[in-house]
Amino acid sequence: QWNGPVSEVYSPVCLPTADGTLQRKLVGSFPVTGPAEALEALEAAVAAYDNGRGEWPQMAVAARIECMESFVGKMLERKKLVVNLIMWEIGKNLADATKEFDRTIKYIYDTIDTLKTIDRNSSRFRIEEGIIGQIRRSPLGVVLAMGPFNYPLNETYTTLIPAILMGNTILFKTPKHGSLLHYPLLEAFRTSFPKGVVNSMYGRGADVIPPVMQSGKVNVLTLIGSSRVADQLQRQHPKLNRLRSIMSLDAKNAAIILPDADLDVAVSECLLGSLSFNGQRCTAIKIIWVHRSVADDFLRRFSAQVSKLKPGMPWDAGVQITPLPEPSKPDYLADCIRDAEANGAKIMNEGGGEVAESLFKPAVVYPVKEGMKLYREEQFGPIVPVVPFDDTEEFIDYLITDDHGMQASIFGTDTNAIAQLIDPLVNLVSRVNINAQCQRGPDTFPFTGRKDSAEGTLSVEDALRSFSIRSAVATKDT
Ligand code: G3H
Repeated sequence: QWNGPVSEVYSPVCLPTADGTLQRKLVGSFPVTGPAEALEALEAAVAAYDNGRGEWPQMAVAARIECMESFVGKMLERKKLVVNLIMWEIGKNLADATKEFDRTIKYIYDTIDTLKTIDRNSSRFRIEEGIIGQIRRSPLGVVLAMGPFNYPLNETYTTLIPAILMGNTILFKTPKHGSLLHYPLLEAFRTSFPKGVVNSMYGRGADVIPPVMQSGKVNVLTLIGSSRVADQLQRQHPKLNRLRSIMSLDAKNAAIILPDADLDVAVSECLLGSLSFNGQRCTAIKIIWVHRSVADDFLRRFSAQVSKLKPGMPWDAGVQITPLPEPSKPDYLADCIRDAEANGAKIMNEGGGEVAESLFKPAVVYPVKEGMKLYREEQFGPIVPVVPFDDTEEFIDYLITDDHGMQASIFGTDTNAIAQLIDPLVNLVSRVNINAQCQRGPDTFPFTGRKDSAEGTLSVEDALRSFSIRSAVATKDT
């Protein structure tokens, strides 16, 4: 029973109203958590952990896995509802919303399998003459978890699930866009795990996060979101240097197209890489560098493909460009384009940059150069800035001087030229893709970044390690 304030959730999908105007559709509402309820939820997580003596952190790994398997069963029963809510709340097309759900289920099973292996390897052994040792993986305590709107289920769960499985207790803040879909799943958490293991907060981060962080009772902060929010949050913790943070943040992933690149491959990979889910992926290609000798050819082919992407409603088959959930985004994107045009760039594709309510038709912008917003800012939307270059050193300099360091893609056929780029690039970003788009998967790969792009590493195995500590029991062998 909730008597407090509620917040209405509007879909990015605009539908005609009785008077013929288009309006964002109301999807539902949620109770707004205030500071007092946030602290109550925190105390529930603290009590369930009970300094490591709680039922959950003390439970054997096999029993924890059983609880998780029971949760997955309940998740699958709710699949249709959750997928529909992903679609309505963030405008992700139905096919991709379904993929997000299925990928999450696979991630959970892969995490369970990896945990079983880690657990098997923590048996007792004679560590050296006179000492029997056991090295375990132990939980860290209370985890404050926050996920993004673009993968509100998958990305959130890639931190939540390993954190839970390792024996931690959770305080989870739902994203601003993509909150309702968590309701049916939180109920499944409640009935699958002991009381207090998973606790949630809805509402404005600015109201609920500061008191929680300032309490000093959060042991681990995990955020998939922006670097700006990460900085604010970390500063709020009283023992900043003792706070473990696992974060995936801003990115400006760059692709380079070498003079001998197979342009069919480069065009199709850059198309997927830069514009799937309207470019709203941290791993999206956010700027393309093309060698001047092939720039015209690449731009002609790439722009033609971009113009063919089908805009529309997320439930319609074949639709690739869908309404944007952040109400201020179309204005921001239009401003980026104005800024580039004022400095000599042009939109290269038909219809690019056209706005219809929350729909923004993707724009290929060329030539982008230093000083324009699109050169350095993470647009996180359907604009593809393209930069001409003569020497690969210009591209390397760009990466060196950029604040981000998540991924890069190289397109080319000369294996020597590619090899010469790989070595400097892997020391500037955390993943280099050859003749392939930037992306997170497969989930066994490390998902991380340098500079402002990440802290800590996620992958099925890395995440389990990140949310735990190696602890030891040493017995004198007499
Ligand atoms: O937004 C960041 C996501 O982790 C990207 O995942 O590359 O599979 O789309 P993805």
